[in-house]
Amino acid sequence: MKNNIIYYFLFCLLTFLVSCNEDSETDESFIHKIDKTLLKDGHSYSNVNQIRTKHIHLDLDVNFDNKTIYGIARHEMVNTGVDTAIFDIKALEIQKITLGKKGSESETDFIIGENDKLLGQPLLVKIKKDTKFINIYYKTTDKTEALDWLDPKLTIGKQFPFMYSQGEAILTRSWIPVQDLPSNRITYSADVKIPSNLRAIMSAENPISKSEDGLYHFEMKQPIPCYLIAIAVGNLEYRRLGEKCGVYTEPELILKCAYEFVDIPKMIKAAEKIYGKYQWERYDMVVLPYSFPFGGMENPRLTFVNPTLIAGDRSLVSVIAHELAHSWSGNLVTNASWDDFWLNEGFTVYFENRIMEEIYGKETADMLAIVEFQEMENELKTISKGKHPEDTKLKLKLEGRSPDEGMTLIGYVKGAFFLKTLEEKVGRELFDKFIKSYFKKYSFKSITTERFEAYLNLKLLVPNKILFNTKEWLYAEGLPKNCIKLESERFKEVQKLADRFAAGEDIFKVKKKKKKNKITREKFITQEWLEFIRRLPSKMEPERLAYLDENLNFKGCGNSEIMTEWYILGINSGYKSIRPDLKRFLYKVGRRKYLEPIYEALSKNKDDLIWGKKVFLKAKLGYHFISYSTIEEILYPSEESAYSSR
Ligand code: BES
Ligand code: ZN
Repeated sequence: MKNNIIYYFLFCLLTFLVSCNEDSETDESFIHKIDKTLLKDGHSYSNVNQIRTKHIHLDLDVNFDNKTIYGIARHEMVNTGVDTAIFDIKALEIQKITLGKKGSESETDFIIGENDKLLGQPLLVKIKKDTKFINIYYKTTDKTEALDWLDPKLTIGKQFPFMYSQGEAILTRSWIPVQDLPSNRITYSADVKIPSNLRAIMSAENPISKSEDGLYHFEMKQPIPCYLIAIAVGNLEYRRLGEKCGVYTEPELILKCAYEFVDIPKMIKAAEKIYGKYQWERYDMVVLPYSFPFGGMENPRLTFVNPTLIAGDRSLVSVIAHELAHSWSGNLVTNASWDDFWLNEGFTVYFENRIMEEIYGKETADMLAIVEFQEMENELKTISKGKHPEDTKLKLKLEGRSPDEGMTLIGYVKGAFFLKTLEEKVGRELFDKFIKSYFKKYSFKSITTERFEAYLNLKLLVPNKILFNTKEWLYAEGLPKNCIKLESERFKEVQKLADRFAAGEDIFKVKKKKKKNKITREKFITQEWLEFIRRLPSKMEPERLAYLDENLNFKGCGNSEIMTEWYILGINSGYKSIRPDLKRFLYKVGRRKYLEPIYEALSKNKDDLIWGKKVFLKAKLGYHFISYSTIEEILYPSEESAYSSR
């Protein structure tokens, strides 16, 4: 009773201070002090150690007219007996908060703390010591970063609008009030209302068909971190690919997707053979509009995919192997905080490569890994010279910075090569047994690097008396000397070809009788062409590049990996006649992995920068917040740009 009175007094005082004296130093620091002490995870304000969400039911009304979701987030809590629950919100409008089950709710007080540009705001809700149900009535705003609302002209079919979400890393708080940290796992369900001519799908059990009335119900019964809650709404069709696998996309693309993804059911079988049963029942994909900022996102049961993967020749499906691998590493065993990001991505790149090896053979898998390794080596050099050389460690310290800054190829590729090196040291059989038991032991758990390290020692290294420099790999900067080295004979061949071309030789001329030896695009796979382009000098005469294009049409070939590499070389070489193709690409594609290095190259020279800025002005309408905020920082580095409106 006494505690209640004290609480209530503090609560009133805080409300008073926040509402009537926002600028005074004392109350700001007072609120700030509260906020800081509550930052358990470094990127969340929530007090999960005292009270945590175990299930959320979402009632969502998706309104395309004003690009707003009207929502109720019904949190079911595990409460240790505290009188405040804290959630993360960002750019959300909170309308009211009630306690109790649906139907017998009573309104309660709440305070919204100071806004942090990165983390958003803490939402403090007054509860009772035995409160189990907290219902937050809210709406999204035009500052909501997770959601991309697309006008019909930005979709593939150009007739219907589209909307999708992207939660990882800390954007879920901008479309749902949640305890937004990967260490807390929740189940979720949702009732969603949308315009009846569209279809809604979520990272959950989906209804088997389109509804007549625009009402949909979803269930995710396995506990997941909240960055994996995801939704897409649009003119979507479904195509079955296998027993538990299929693809959603706009009707215009459905046949192409079915062709491109024909091997995915095989990949699921291969993955299960390596690391044990697939735990999520179904594996479906949704191919989104081009603005989607990633190649793929591993939303459980429903991988989100960028349409640039639909290259027409199945050459980019390793991204699906990657997202599928996340069904074990990332979704089943999750990084406890963003400092442990490599546990998600390093394991996944390793596992992706194993799936590729299983289906397409070691030669192809090695070429994939070598290309990734080169990219990582470049990034490692850049990071080492920059402001945060400590970002070349696998275990990061990102507090106070955006998790995005730590999401470099270090976690992905240094992480994967750590596991490859370990595998080589202990042998595949022992290693696989260990990884399989690791996934089993930590299924549906979120864990830290330190916990992984302890398990590795306990189950693999100590019992087999193996000495390994694990600490150096996990906690030191740079790349350890014992890192495994991969070689590819096929790469050596394209390197020779590139050297001959660079030396001025006409590599396309063949004697009449030897016509089948003519160099065509089909002669090599994507990774070989990437190797070829990278092997060329970083600046070449534009005429020579144009000659290559005449023969191979890199600039308009439709393979976005090759095009990006080619555009960068073109920009660096002053090869201006690629501009029409490049402009078309930048208008169409919103995938950050491509946009970032291209705009980066453009920003190195005044004339290109002016051109790039002009293109960006229009192109950004087709980019998700994640991409356009990154590009804005490249093109306008000195300005406070990331949060300006479009
Ligand atoms: N989970 C990531 C995407 C992501 C990372 C979103 C960090 C937000 C923050 C996804 O699995 C991924 O890594 N996608 C890659 C493809 C992969 C083959 C490297 C991508 O989009 O390029
Ligand atoms: Zn990934």
